[in-house]
Amino acid sequence: MKHAEQINVLKELIHQIDTKTTCDAGKVVINPTSSYTDEALAEREWQTFFAQHPQVIGLSPELPGPGSYLTNNDLGMPILATRDKNGKFHAFINACRHRCAQLTEQSRGEQHRFTCPFHAWTYAPDGRLMGIRHGEMFGEVDKACHSLIELPSQEKYGFLVVHPQLDGVVDIDALLGAELAEALANWEFDKCAFQGESSIDKALNWKLANDTFGENYHFSTLHSQTLSNLAHSDYATYREYGRNHRICTASRYLDVMREQPESEWNFSFASIAAYYLFPNVQLVFVGGMVVLVRIYPDRNDVAHSVSRISHFAMPHIREQLGEAERSTAVKADNVYSADTSARMEFDVSATVELLVSTVEHEDYVMSEKAQVTAAAGKLDYFLFGRNEPALHHFHNNYRAALGEPPLEEYRAA
Ligand code: FES
Ligand SMILES: [Fe+2]
Repeated sequence: MKHAEQINVLKELIHQIDTKTTCDAGKVVINPTSSYTDEALAEREWQTFFAQHPQVIGLSPELPGPGSYLTNNDLGMPILATRDKNGKFHAFINACRHRCAQLTEQSRGEQHRFTCPFHAWTYAPDGRLMGIRHGEMFGEVDKACHSLIELPSQEKYGFLVVHPQLDGVVDIDALLGAELAEALANWEFDKCAFQGESSIDKALNWKLANDTFGENYHFSTLHSQTLSNLAHSDYATYREYGRNHRICTASRYLDVMREQPESEWNFSFASIAAYYLFPNVQLVFVGGMVVLVRIYPDRNDVAHSVSRISHFAMPHIREQLGEAERSTAVKADNVYSADTSARMEFDVSATVELLVSTVEHEDYVMSEKAQVTAAAGKLDYFLFGRNEPALHHFHNNYRAALGEPPLEEYRAA
């Protein structure tokens, strides 16, 4: 996000706090409860949004150098993503060309040769079949025709994107649109440092998991003892970028920072910015960290999903962490602002832990209960308020992609 836009967002948040207003979708809408429970709908969603749609599988720092790799098993096939010796990103089906064994089961690592654990055929990170063990016994095989099967992929603006279909097309510029691409490029993901990952496996529909990121109306109630200490409830700026959007929430630090000269304002600490990328990605910027959340449905259970979360230190935090300490919990002092009474000790890892733990133990637990009551089939619809425009947008996007009409407006009698 550019500096001028950051200042505009902060001013809008200050205005909202002072006038007790927030973003406004202009109407209340009705979302059918079946959206979260209908198995036939879930299968259409799987085909349309996952099997046939490009997928963000990580950010560039997750493949930090030649030979680094990561795996993904959430898209109906095992995927092995690599960076070759020239730094090029690839995504392959994680399957040996001999008899389909998976080359690795590790979630990530660094290897300059992949040796199949079954009979030890070897592959380079660019997919080439390098060696057939006891080739003279096995018989003649044209190695050049037995590279790993490669999926369409692209790396741009720090995103690693894969298409699950062999004949699919990945066009990151088209997925983001010019405005959002420029805004995200400004965050310089490629200069961030990967810090760690976690997964949350819960009994809730993937869209319920996604909805939890779509409003902060609940911060002061559901998160009264946790996130509410870090951020204001209720006030939020909202902006759409085609099928994607951005929500910015005011952090508590904004209350202190607003008294300082504008030249000293620090957006990273005064606001939590959450970008949504269609269909299943949330990208949250909090306290100098970037948190990437990818939410996947369980194709066999409409009431189950898994959220994969990886987090990164932004460049200015990265410098403070230092090379040796990057993967450990490190305290970075005075990151809020130099030379003001607002100096605060900021624990980088603790902020991410708080965010992830709050999502797991508060948001998703609440949503698991909603899933159970939704499945009972006695409530026809959910209501999305005027102050929840992102929820309108998620669901109208999904519906449009499936050829369904927009959400119906609720009208009080
Ligand atoms: S299946 Fe990989 S070497 Fe046999
Ligand atoms: Fe929440």
